[in-house]
Parts: sequence; structure tokens; C-alpha cells
Amino acid sequence: MKILRNKHEMAAQFALWKKAGLRIGIVPTMGNLHNGHLSLLDVLDARADKIITTIYVNPLQFAPDEDFNVYPRTHEEDFAKLRETGKCDAIFIPEQMYEDGHATTIQPAGVALGYETEFRPHFFEGVATIVHKLFQQTGADIAVFGEKDYQQLQVIKQMVTDLDLSVEILASPTIREADGLAMSSRNGYLTPAERQIAPILYQVMQETADQIRGGKPVDTILSQACRKILASGFSAIDYFSYCDAQTLANADSHIETGMLLAAIHLGNVRLIDQLKV
Ligand code: PAF
Repeated sequence: MKILRNKHEMAAQFALWKKAGLRIGIVPTMGNLHNGHLSLLDVLDARADKIITTIYVNPLQFAPDEDFNVYPRTHEEDFAKLRETGKCDAIFIPEQMYEDGHATTIQPAGVALGYETEFRPHFFEGVATIVHKLFQQTGADIAVFGEKDYQQLQVIKQMVTDLDLSVEILASPTIREADGLAMSSRNGYLTPAERQIAPILYQVMQETADQIRGGKPVDTILSQACRKILASGFSAIDYFSYCDAQTLANADSHIETGMLLAAIHLGNVRLIDQLKV
């Protein structure tokens, strides 16, 4: 497993692989890897000849008051986990990503509007810009993203279509702890007491999904669900919404392509989750 620390080393490596006619798959991450990330390598295993995991905590997608400085950087543990999968051919862990004077970003609209953007207006500009740079720097033919960050996945698909990028995008299902909590690097911020409460979010999402399938009016169901979430000890709800999985437009009754999207605060931690309905 090669460890490539700048875009020049990365370019030299991918040029060799391309010359050999190999298909390059990438797993973009910010590190602090858990089984959710590792499952993304499984998805690529049969679809790519070479798999690169990228590790980069991207300052552009954090607001000044967010956790960029304390975001867990666990490189040695991450390398060991990736080595153990036996599936990762290279780790791309660039020390520098934005040169001095960097001034060009991608500004997604469409599916980027609403939900996350209402609460983190900087976020998708940062994500789209870094993902585009990573595609360029790694020579990716295919890339996989988790469905947990569902709106992010849709934004990336839209960017690929809109900018005619020749990268195939795969989606991978949300991986959960045994009690249902969606795996996330930020779960490590939860106190033991909060960790007990956290899985209630998924329980409420499952109940909500059943009720929507049952045909009750969606706005009534969502209001009841929000009351239950807050009564369970969560501190605030950014959104708890039912929408079309492709367009992300709100839906007021059950639809075949329905999706629940949630972003909820528990103490200082913001949990996000999704569930097909
Ligand atoms: O989902 C993430 O971990 C990040 O948003 C990504 C896609 C690696 C871009 O920094």
C-alpha cells in the first residue's frame, strides 16, 4: 500500500496505472476511519483495478465556528485499518491542497439548496471544490460515497453531470452500529450519556417511515416525530424532512422514491441520517 503525500507523487502513480490500462477507484474521506468508510472499499473492490483512499480534512467545508481544528486526525490508525482490508492500493494524504492565492471554487445550486445549506451555507461549495480537485489529482474513473451524507451524494452526482466529469459515482448504504446509530467520525464526540440517546433518532425515523407508508398526512407525522425527538433529550432539530430522493423536493404524501433526511443536535454534536421510505 503506497502512501502519497502530494499531488505530484499522486500524478506519477496514476499515470503508471493509466498507462497499464487500469481503472482507478477512489474513496474520498477526511480520515478517522470507521467501518462505514471501510465498507466503501468493498463496494469498489469488484469495480476498480486500483483503489485509492484519500484522507484530507478540507478547511473549505468548515465554517469558522465549526470543528476543523479538533476534527480527529488519526493517520497511523487509519493506515493500519486500510492495510488490514487488503483492498487499498494507495492512500493519498496531501499535506497541501490549496496553493497560496487559491481563488476558484465550485458553487453548487439545485439539489444543494435547502437542508444542509440552510444551516451550513459554506458546506457544499467546500465539498464540491475538494471533490473536483481530488478527482483531478487522482485520475479517478469511479468514486464511491456513503448514502448517510445523502444530500452531499446528490450534489456530487449533479456536479459530475453538470461539469461533464467522466467519473462514475457509486452510492453505498449507510452502515450502522448494532443499536442503529449511523456510523460517523463525529460520533466520537458524544458523551456516554448522549451515546445512549443517539440511537433514538434512527428508531424515530423507522417509526416515521412506517407511518408515512401507512398513508397518514406527512406534516402531522413529521411534527409528532420532532416532538418525540426533542422529548428524548436531543437539543435541536435543523431538519427532519420527507422528500423525493432524486430532486430532494419535499413530499407531502408517500411516494415510491421517498427519503427521510435528518440533521439533529445532541449536546454539541450534530447527527445526520437518512432512510429510504
Ligand atoms: O464526506 C466526507 O467525508 C467529506 O465531505 C468528503 C466527501 C471527503 C469531502 O471532504
